[in-house]
Amino acid sequence: MATALSVFSHSIGRKLIMALTGLFLILFLVVHLAGNLQLVFGTPDAFNAYTHTMATSPVIKIASYLTYLSILLHVIYAIILSRINRQARPQGYAINKASENSSWSSRSMFLLGSIIFIFLVLHMSNFWYKYKFGEVGMAGQYKDMYTVVATSFSQWWYVAIYVLSMAGLAYHLQHGFQSAFQTLGLNHYAYTPLIKKIGLAFAIIVPLLFAFIPVYMFIDSLS
Ligand code: HEM
Repeated sequence: MATALSVFSHSIGRKLIMALTGLFLILFLVVHLAGNLQLVFGTPDAFNAYTHTMATSPVIKIASYLTYLSILLHVIYAIILSRINRQARPQGYAINKASENSSWSSRSMFLLGSIIFIFLVLHMSNFWYKYKFGEVGMAGQYKDMYTVVATSFSQWWYVAIYVLSMAGLAYHLQHGFQSAFQTLGLNHYAYTPLIKKIGLAFAIIVPLLFAFIPVYMFIDSLS
């Protein structure tokens, strides 16, 4: 038991938790994006049926609780790790050519994560909270989440927040994806370049498609 618990307090254990929760959240992003693309390529009914399934299916409910737990652990351990790093190097290095030794995104993971966290608070209070605990009109047999989302995305400033946050997500994923594989010990001279390429493609395509949805719906609301 003591050995299992000590995983949470050892340096490697902490990084492992960041990597595993990060990879789970990456998986969540793929499923969430696939569902949300119905806002563009599907019908309002299909989107409302999808959000209904997300809220009621027992399997999805378990996945949802794992998502909340992953977000919580990812944030808590990010704070712990960055505090430990700061305590280890309060003065910074005497000679530190950071820009030559590492990428901007790898040095800004905490800042980028904080942007995503603020986005999530706004996003979940507007969509998730409203769906679970607020008042949403009905469209046939389902709650009309399509109208809730379409109303939000008819405001330019709301769309701007989404687009800017997705830029933050892109940079966070650019470093996070490959970093997670490295922590899991999957850095091999033959695979690492491929993992980096897949990570980069993922970090560009997924946030771009997420950002495309509010932009598309804003333009659609003008007509
Ligand atoms: C166009 C972009 C997006 C739209 C339209 C959208 C829409 C929604 C809606 C309608 C819900 C509540 C119903 C449901 O669970 O499906 C939701 C929940 C959620 N969204 Fe998003 N979302 C978007 C982007 C994102 C992004 C980029 C993230 C993460 C960085 C995110 C994280 C979440 C989380 C964690 C939940 C709660 C999921 C759960 O309860 O299982 N969303 N979103």
